[in-house]
This record gives sequence, C-alpha cells and structure tokens, in this order.
Amino acid sequence: MPNQPSPTAALTDDWRAGGFALYVHWPFCAAKCPYCDFNSHVAANIDQPRWLAAYRAEIARLGAELPGRVLNSIFFGGGTPSLMAPETVAAVIEAARAQWPFANDIEITLEANPTSIETGRFRAYADGGVNRVSMGMQALNDDDLRRLGRMHSVAEGRAAFDIARDCFTRVSFDLIYARQDQDRVHWRRELTEALAMAVDHLSAYQLTIEPGTAFGARHEKGGLKGLPDDDISADMYLDTQEICAAAGMPTYEISNHARPGAESRHNLVYWRQGDWAAVGPGAHGRLSLPNGRWATEAHRAPGEWLAAVEARGNGDSLREVLTLSDRAMEYLLMSMRLTEGMEVARYLAHGPELPQGRVTDLIGLGLVTQAGGRLAATATGRPVLNAILRDLVD
Ligand SMILES: C[S@@+](CC[C@H](N)C(=O)[O-])C[C@H]1O[C@@H](n2cnc3c(N)ncnc32)[C@H](O)[C@@H]1O
Ligand code: SF4
Repeated sequence: MPNQPSPTAALTDDWRAGGFALYVHWPFCAAKCPYCDFNSHVAANIDQPRWLAAYRAEIARLGAELPGRVLNSIFFGGGTPSLMAPETVAAVIEAARAQWPFANDIEITLEANPTSIETGRFRAYADGGVNRVSMGMQALNDDDLRRLGRMHSVAEGRAAFDIARDCFTRVSFDLIYARQDQDRVHWRRELTEALAMAVDHLSAYQLTIEPGTAFGARHEKGGLKGLPDDDISADMYLDTQEICAAAGMPTYEISNHARPGAESRHNLVYWRQGDWAAVGPGAHGRLSLPNGRWATEAHRAPGEWLAAVEARGNGDSLREVLTLSDRAMEYLLMSMRLTEGMEVARYLAHGPELPQGRVTDLIGLGLVTQAGGRLAATATGRPVLNAILRDLVD
C-alpha cells in the first residue's frame, strides 16, 4: 500500500507528538548562588555582539539541518539571561524566525532574576518578542534569600513581579523549599502567600544539595544545619500539591503547577519528547533526522564553545544517535513526570514490552493507572516516582 507510512517514517515523525523548540543557553550570572550547579559563570566583560554572532551561526547551522519545521517555543535559560542586552535577545529571536516559521501561539520565555537591574529591561524584552518570563524568586523571606546567596530582597522580588505582570501576559516564578530551618507551617504560609500573587504558573523545587557546589562542600563538612529530614521534605511536597491544587494551579509535572492551559509549552516539548535545537554552552538537544534521532551536547565551558563556533562553525562536542531502546527509555522517564503520563502505543513503537506484571502490581498499590492508552503515576505515586521508574525499567 503506497500511502501507508513505513514504521521507520512513523519513528522519524514521532517528535511531532511533542512539538519543536529552541533552547538558548546564556551561561553568565552576576554571582554564583551556593546551591546552584547549572552551567553558570561570573565574568567581568562579556562581548555581547560576539556572543550574538555565535548564536546566529549556530541557529543558521541547525536551521539548515531542520528545514520545514514550525517553532512552538524558544526558551532563554541560564545562567541569567536577563543579563542579556534586549537587542541581543531580539536578534536571537529574529535569527530563529529566519529559519523556522513561528507557530501562532509560540511561547518565548526568558529566565529572569528579580533585581532592579533586570526589571528595567522587561519592557524592551517584550518589545523584542519575549512573551513569558520565569523569575527566580526562590523565597519570600529575606533571611532565607540571604542564606541562598540571592542578590534581591522579597520587596525587590515582588516589585519585579509586578513589572513583569505589566509587560508579559504569562509570568512564572520559582520557589525553593525544604530550606534550612524551614518547617511545614512556614512553607504552607509562604506558598499560600506566593499563590496569592501568582499569575498562571509556579515551579516549586525541593532544595537539592549538589556535589561540587558551595552548599555541597559545607554539607560534606557537617555544616548546613537544620535541613528538614526526608519525611518532613516529603510532607512539604504533599503540602505543595494540596495548596496549589486548592488555588486552581494543580501539578502537571513533579515540580510544576499551572492553571489549566498555562503549562510551560517549552518544558512540555522535553517531557513529551518533541525535538529541540539547543545552542549555547553545555546545551543539550534532540533532533529527529531522516537517519535517526540524535542527542547533541555543546561544549560546556563558555570560552571553548565560543572558540569552537568561531573556528569550526559548530559548538557541539557530542552528537550521538539514540538507539530505539534509548528512545523508549527516555520517553518513559520524561513523560512519567507528567500528570498526563505516557502514551503506551508511542512507547511500544520503539520496541520493548512493558513489564506488565510489575505494572499490574503498581496499579494494585495505587501508584499508577493504566487507562485510555496511557500509563500515569497517581498522586500517591508521584512522590515515589523514582522508585516506580526503577521498577519499570529494571
Ligand atoms: C537556571 S536556574 C534559574 C535562573 C535564574 N538565574 C535565577 O536564579 O533566578 C532555574 C531554577 O532552578 C532552581 N534550582 C537551582 N539549583 C537548585 C537546587 N540545588 N535545588 C533546588 N532548586 C534549584 C531555582 O529555583 C532556579 O530558579
Ligand atoms: S540560581 Fe540562577 S543566578 Fe544563581 S547561580 Fe544559578 S543560574 Fe545563576
């Protein structure tokens, strides 16, 4: 049957179920926060025109490889992209538009730190095409902001938020919980306060002590007293689910909450395993080409990335084809983070069977559901998602 798509074509087109996005990594910050292990660096002088030329070259390279795509999202992440000159941001957006037509409802997000330096630029970012801001508020308590090494106060954070609301239709912010000396009563109060100002989206991350960070080193030496234990942290997670749901912003991913319809389209591309082109130091991408689905990874050190783009016209340090079982595994691990879970048929299109006996056991324990062709973690299962995933992939 000539019109029947071949199984290979179905796999080449699999990304369409998730959409297509561009990630732009800006690797610089005004100061390094002691908990953060993102690829972020403090640099005195940044030659923005030079960086822009490199981003443009990378976007043009990827555009030539991925013709005919429609772009659903652009995300400026970091680092602190709100330290980019608005002209740089606008020019990157234009470079993307020159390669790929924009979807009518394209989401263009910029991560911002809420200091007065950045809020002065919000209007200019909006004029340049940014339509969503994700702010790193982290805490609504000045002592804790200081302990987290943040360079803004609660008052500054709130002022930044108000300006963001005036400039962008969609505004999200990040909070970190399970901080030193934080108990459930404090967290419940703080989250309720936060939700009173939230627009449509909130990310609440449990503090992770990452090796190689200042907090990691302090923790290893027995410092960083007063961190909530695992049981209290787990209760804080449940508190978060309950309070956000009651405020009309239910969880749609382990750490993310939104009014229905206001979910981050960009992150949905990752979790639903669409394709994303990635530019900038350390950025990871996924590209479906006629000869397979490729994982890309850019040079992590900012200077190395810039030099590679300028000298060789390619900032990537790795490009690796994914096997069908890699793809199935990645789809399982990413999509199960979502409340909607995964499409079983999509998973099976890549090969391996699900261990149906274990699925049945997990259903019996009330940890997952399987219905309407989807497998999803339940509210009881989500806090122990890692254990569920281990069970499913072992
Ligand atoms: C790339 S960072 C933030 C962007 C922006 N530079 C800022 O700090 O506001 C994304 C978010 O990850 C979260 N985060 C970073 N490190 C974390 C950690 N060790 N534990 C929990 N959350 C973390 C923070 O909430 C942060 O806002
Ligand atoms: S949390 Fe944000 S501002 Fe702080 S070091 Fe990490 S990326 Fe930079």
